[in-house]
Formats: sequence, structure tokens, C-alpha cells
Amino acid sequence: MNVIVTESYEESCAAAAQMIADLVREKPACKLGLATGGTPVPIYRKLIEMNRAGTVDFARVRTVNLDEYCGIPADHPQSYRYFMDTNLFDHINIDKANTFVAAGMGDYQANAAQLERMVYEGGPADLQLLGIGNNGHIAFNEAGDTLHAKAHIEHLTDSTISANARFFEKKEDVPTMAITMGMGDILAARKVVLVATGPAKAEAIRGLVTGDTITPHNPSTLLKLHPDATVIIDRALAEAAGYGA
Ligand code: F6R
Repeated sequence: MNVIVTESYEESCAAAAQMIADLVREKPACKLGLATGGTPVPIYRKLIEMNRAGTVDFARVRTVNLDEYCGIPADHPQSYRYFMDTNLFDHINIDKANTFVAAGMGDYQANAAQLERMVYEGGPADLQLLGIGNNGHIAFNEAGDTLHAKAHIEHLTDSTISANARFFEKKEDVPTMAITMGMGDILAARKVVLVATGPAKAEAIRGLVTGDTITPHNPSTLLKLHPDATVIIDRALAEAAGYGA
């Protein structure tokens, strides 16, 4: 695993955006795996800037998102489809028909099966962007005794619901279930790039970047099995996580 320590979160986001832009330039019809949440917002902002400046072209890029909440429609302001449209897709020259976010309404199992097909359609992602939950979850693969390989329905933990409550009016409004790629789906990407910041992520990052233990109680540790995984953290988080100490 390649760990990059930057001087700031802003620098981490610039580095991640650069990796994505480099890939798109090298392979204009590439497939990107994308994430939502607070962490990638500045990364998407930088990609929008580059697209507007004419230095990166998304015309032929395809995307698949990691996950979607169950029970909220695509046009709901907290749906991950809405997030992707408003934070990235509406502002770049991507063909939205080439972007996939699982449907959060209707038959959840069928929606998960469709996500699983989309993960592999035309080949796996060339690059999968990831954030990490305070409990080490990636996508919505929650920490626990077992993990799933494939796309499935996940019951969110209290830790995740509390962390995501900041995006909703009140905690009770946060959906309790989500459709998510499984661990095998994430590991199938050719390249994985995880960005993290903030003291709440310190324990999860400690498990990921120090030692060689792999445990379902910190799902991110499975990334140690990936041949091309990069973790980008700022110095404050690296120190809090005991990396390089
Ligand atoms: C989002 C996702 C989640 C987030 C994680 C961190 O698509 O899959 O795993 O990456 O919950 O969220 P933030 O970035 O808001 O701290």
C-alpha cells in the first residue's frame, strides 16, 4: 500500500484530483468508481475547475458510485444521485447516461443486483475513489464479524447514522439501510485511492496504515490485499494515527 502524507486536506484533495485527471487524460474512455460524503467534495470541485479550464475531458468517461441510501428517491437532496449531480456531473462535460448510481427506491434486492452488474460491465473500474467511515467502513460495508463480497443491502450502524446526521435535519431522518458495493467489488478496481482527514478517522486510519492486520472490524484493512492502493492523508491525521511514529 502506498501512503501519501500531505501538509493539508486541501493538498490531499488536489493530489487525488490530479490522479483522476491523469487517468482520464491517459485513458479518455476510462471507468471511474466514485464516492459521496464530505471528503470528496473539494476533489470534485478541482475536477470541475480543470474541466472548465479545458485540461480534462469527461466526454467518454463512465462512472459507477459506491452506494445509495434505501428509501429516498433520486431527486431527494440527500440522495447520492442528487449529490453526484450537484457536486460534479452537472458541472462537467460528462454524458449522464454514462453515470450510474444505484436506485434507492423500489425493489432493493433488484437494485443491488443491478449495481453488481454495473460494477463489472465493460470491465472493472480503472480507479475507485474512497472515503472512510469513523469505524473503518468503506462504501457502506459496516464493521462487524462478517463482510460481503458483492453488492448488497446493509443495515447502517449507529456510528454511521450519527456521522451522517449532519447532512439531515435530524438523526431520525437518516436512512437506516443502504445499497452498497461489496468488498470484492471494491477490490476488483484496478486502482484504489482513499482520502481521509480529521481526528475522528484516526483509529480507522491507524488500522489501515500501520501493521499488517486485516479485520472485518475495520473493513478498510482489506485494502491491504489490493496490489495498487493509495491512501492520502494530511500530516495531522498521520500523526493522530501514529503513522511513521
Ligand atoms: C460514501 C461512502 C462512505 C463515505 C464515508 C466517509 O459514498 O461510501 O463510505 O466515504 O462514510 O464519509 P465522509 O467523507 O462524509 O466522512
